[in-house]
Amino acid sequence: MKKPLNAQALEYLQYLKEQGVTHVPVSGRQPARPAPGARAPKTPSDPAPTAAPASHPSAPPHLSTPGLASIAAEIAACHACPLAATRKNTVPGQGAIHPDIMFIGEGPGADEDEQGLAFVGRAGQLLTKMIAAMGYTRQQVFIGNIVKCRPPGNRVPTPDEMAGCLPYLKRQIAIIQPKLIVCLGATAVRGLVAETLPIGKARGQWRTFEGIPVMLTFHPAYLLRDGSKKKYAWQDLKAVLARLGNPLPVGE
Ligand code: URA
Repeated sequence: MKKPLNAQALEYLQYLKEQGVTHVPVSGRQPARPAPGARAPKTPSDPAPTAAPASHPSAPPHLSTPGLASIAAEIAACHACPLAATRKNTVPGQGAIHPDIMFIGEGPGADEDEQGLAFVGRAGQLLTKMIAAMGYTRQQVFIGNIVKCRPPGNRVPTPDEMAGCLPYLKRQIAIIQPKLIVCLGATAVRGLVAETLPIGKARGQWRTFEGIPVMLTFHPAYLLRDGSKKKYAWQDLKAVLARLGNPLPVGE
């Protein structure tokens, strides 16, 4: 089912639900955000991703940041490639602006297509655990994809589809300005940094995208299929924490 006209409001409520919010105050006050194990922002130059215009006091940054909101609107109206014909919803990505980390996956699956949110299915649940293990919450990072519409049957997006969508991602990255990017899986790695090594060889390596360090690692969906690779993904995420100057979780 396509989103109704008030899709942004529904997406916003979905976002709050995803963050564990069960009651939305009608007074306009900021709802409490659960932050189990959340790492507090370290410096004043590393703000929590809660800023929103007074007109929309608790809107998440991906909806309240003008540039990002207008890119999302362009994506919603995009018919540049065949994926538009079969999508239910576009999935521009969601999360913080100016985060420490931006995660980039391949493209929406069935759950993401249904909800218009990135990484909300089984792979997303594992990604949430990976983010938590790093000491962050989902709302403290940005989560997006190479392509913004679901490829039918979850097939890999074609090079043309990826190339057609890349300008949106580039513009998002320019606004989001993450300290680091983590590419999840071979498609993200190919799409963002044109790396042709197989992911098993490329993982753990750093690249750059427009001056931003990029860590290459496995896609959570692959880790669900082959749990023996989780330890390598964790090594990669620890390298990210080290590069950010963050302490490693206790016991590591
Ligand atoms: N896999 C992806 O690459 N992206 C999503 O948003 C969900 C699953």
